[in-house]
Parts: sequence; C-alpha cells; structure tokens
Amino acid sequence: MAKPKVLVTRTWPEAVEARLSRDYDVTLNADDTPMSADEIGAALGEYDAVCPTVSDKLPARCFEDGLRAKILGNFGVGVNHIDLEAARGAGLTVTNTPGVLTDCTADLALTLMLMLARRAGEGERELRAGNWTGWRPTHMIGRKLSGRVLGIVGMGRIGIATVRRAQAGFGMKVVYYNRSEPGADAMAGLDAQRLETVEAVMEAADVVSLHIPGGGANRHMIGADQLKLLGPDGLLVNTARGDVVDEAALVAALEAGEIGGAGLDVYEAEPQVPKALMTRQDVVLLPHLGSATRETREAMGHMVADNLDAFFAGRDVPNPVG
Ligand code: DGY
Repeated sequence: MAKPKVLVTRTWPEAVEARLSRDYDVTLNADDTPMSADEIGAALGEYDAVCPTVSDKLPARCFEDGLRAKILGNFGVGVNHIDLEAARGAGLTVTNTPGVLTDCTADLALTLMLMLARRAGEGERELRAGNWTGWRPTHMIGRKLSGRVLGIVGMGRIGIATVRRAQAGFGMKVVYYNRSEPGADAMAGLDAQRLETVEAVMEAADVVSLHIPGGGANRHMIGADQLKLLGPDGLLVNTARGDVVDEAALVAALEAGEIGGAGLDVYEAEPQVPKALMTRQDVVLLPHLGSATRETREAMGHMVADNLDAFFAGRDVPNPVG
C-alpha cells in the first residue's frame, strides 16, 4: 500500500524529520521558507496530511476546494492560526501538542519577568554599545520580584507552571483570572486567589502574565482600560498570543507612562513588531521563543508523528483539538 503523503510546512528537528520520512511519503521544507495560505490551500488538495505551525495561516478559504487531506497535525499547542470551524466542516481531524511545551513556556515567562524587573535587556544594550562607565550605586536600578504580586490571566497548564516557579523561586503572592475554577489536583500546593475579572487582576498585581489562547473572545482582552489598571509600576508579560493584547493600546500606555514595562514573546502580526516598541528601553522583545529548546521541539514533533500514526492506523488520535 502507498504511504500517506505528508507535507511538513517548516523545517523540523532532524530526528523527527527522519522518523516521518521512514513512515510516510514526506515533503519537507528544506529551506524553511514560509508558505502562503494559498500554497497551503493547494497542498490540502494534494496531501493526506498537512503539518502546519503557528507561522502558517489557514483561513477558511484553504478548506473550500477538493480536499485530499484528512488530518492537520499542528506542530504547537496554539491553533488560532487555523480556521477550526472550516477545517472541521471540511471533515479534517485537527491535532496539537499540549503539555510538552508547558515547562519551557513558563520558564520564558519568568525570564521576561526577570529581564524586565532587573532591566537586563537595557543593561546588555548599554554594555554592547560601549556606554558602560563602571559600577555605581545608582546605576540601572531595577525592582525585586520577591514578595510582589503576580497576576495570572489563564490558569491552565502554563499558567500553573508559571505560578509554581514564581512562588518557589521568588515567594510571589498570586492572584488570577480563569473563566472556570481550575481542578483541585492541578492547583495542589499552590497558594493563589481567584478573582472575578481580568480587571481585578490587573489592579491587584505588580506583574501580570498572560496564558490564554489567542483569537475569538480573547482578542484584545488586554486593552487601554485594563492597562491603566496595572499602573505606572506594573509590568505586563505575554508569552501566549499577540492578539490577546491590543498592541496600539500597549504602545500608548507605555508612552503615557501608564504602565512600567512589557516583556513580549508574541505579537499581533508576527514577525512584524510595532516600530514604536523597538526603540523603547522599558520593553523586552523576544522572537516567539516560548517552546524553543531542543528537547521541547523534538517532543512536539514526535507528538505530531504519534497523532499521524494513530490516525493512519485507524485509531483515535491522542491529541484531538476540540
Ligand atoms: C505553540 O505551541 O502554540 C507555540 O506558540 C509555538 O511554540
């Protein structure tokens, strides 16, 4: 029997590409160039499986004409780049990679908090520019994280992992917003107070870290009104999705001194980053590195492969979306 035809839209870790190439008739993207939505739409007519990433866009029009594909094996946990309703309407199974990137993403949220609080990016830029004149008592004074209030928006796996790190490492007090009460098991050993609204969290916290999916009702959940509540010393960290924050409102809030700073790993129109942020010292800007460790990226790839294996063997996929 012919092997299923699989398209991998970007370059993946070698070990996973080797595994897929053994079991499938795979087209790999050796030069790692992004594909357009139209190219992906056309591929859905030629391949049995397409494996996209967050840097691909799959709007409804991708799913309109004569599809051959039966499964989208997304390399990543977030799927707001895929029009899920259209994909499901066209009969596709969609899978993702939950769990394996939790620790790395939480690590990066803490990295951003520390970099912001201790002005690490700013200090490094000063030194590399040759502008450091030596140690002095009032040079580049930052803030302590210890004992501060951390606000979490979205107490899922990554939110919880972030809280564990912040409490164990820095003794931070925690308030959070989550639509529903998180499971008691997941929250075991955590001392965190659930508040009724995002606004209440913004007002109570010194540092707010976002951990909700993008798109839908979450788009621009953090806008001008919410940012104002964070206050002139408040720090915002986003390792979730860019569109959760209204970027124009964020720029305005920073420019007006309404918040103290922002640490961002994700943006509304990646890879574009608002020009106004590029020159600011009170922001830390990373290029969507949340899951970027060798172990995690390999685990993500193997998870996609496990889902394809199950699907093409006629078994239930382990990680269906929705
Ligand atoms: C995800 O998995 O959704 C990340 O944003 C990509 O690492």
